[in-house]
Order: sequence, then C-alpha cells, then structure tokens
Amino acid sequence: MAKLEILEFPDPRLRTVAQPVTQFDAALARLVRDLFETMYDAPGIGLAATQVDVHRQLLVCDVSEDHDQPRVLANPRIRRRQGTQTYQEGCLSVPGIFADVERALVVTVEAQDAEGRPFTLEADGLLAVCIQHEMDHLAGKLFVDYLSPLKREMVRRKLEKRHRQAASA
Ligand code: NI
Repeated sequence: MAKLEILEFPDPRLRTVAQPVTQFDAALARLVRDLFETMYDAPGIGLAATQVDVHRQLLVCDVSEDHDQPRVLANPRIRRRQGTQTYQEGCLSVPGIFADVERALVVTVEAQDAEGRPFTLEADGLLAVCIQHEMDHLAGKLFVDYLSPLKREMVRRKLEKRHRQAASA
C-alpha cells in the first residue's frame, strides 16, 4: 500500500471532471487500498480519486469511529434526495477550513463496488453528507464553492500563503 499526495485548493487539477471507472482490475483494487490508507492516515472520513489526481469516478468513505465501515463507490449516481441538513464541513484538500454547507438529509445512491458489482445505498446524516461532498469532487467541485465569493477568496489567500510558507521553510 502507499500513501498518496492530496491536491490542495486552489490547485486547478481539483477542477477536473472524472471519467467513469470501466476497468475493475488489480490496478483499481490497489488504488482503492491506497485511497483508504491515505484517508485514514490524514485522518479524514472521505476521499475522492480526484483529490489524488486520478480522474475516475471513484470515492471511498468511512464515517465510523473505529474505521470499520469502509465503503467504496465507483460510478455513483444519486437517484433520490430527501430533506435538507446543514453540517460544518471540512476537506482534506482545503486543510484547516470549516464551513456550514446545506445538503440533502437522505440520498439514495446507485454505485458499483471495487469488483464492479452494482448496489443501491440509502444514506442519511453524516454518511449522506460525506457521499455528496465526495461526489462533488468527482464533478470538479469543492465545498468552498458554496461559500460567498468573498469568503472563498479569503480561503484561497490563506491557503496560498500557507503553501508559500511551506515552500520557503
Ligand atoms: Ni473534500
């Protein structure tokens, strides 16, 4: 297994729209393992392939305390949305920034697992937030896009300053 580098906002590669997963092979299985290792190490509750510069419709998440509910969603599609909830979100690609985002409370998602087997998942609460957040990544979208332009600009400056400091350290 290998820990992968996570792209950080405002890296333009995070804006890439992912292509469908078509090969459910050993390389995909390795990518899934690496995504989990990278996510758990960060630590985070979700990671999209986009964030490690792989532009395929693949995400992993685990919202459990004990890291015992790993989920893999390839080619996810939301078939139904019900209700709304607001959750203070963060993102491994936007480190140190947290903001309220309104999303559906319950989502019914069709996806494929790491072996290509189709399944339907009804998710609510934090898992629903996580899946919607990671699916945004696959569309080249970030949670800061829901903020006002002014707030987003502040986030961009803050992270660029941090990147410059890291580069000169
Ligand atoms: Ni994220």
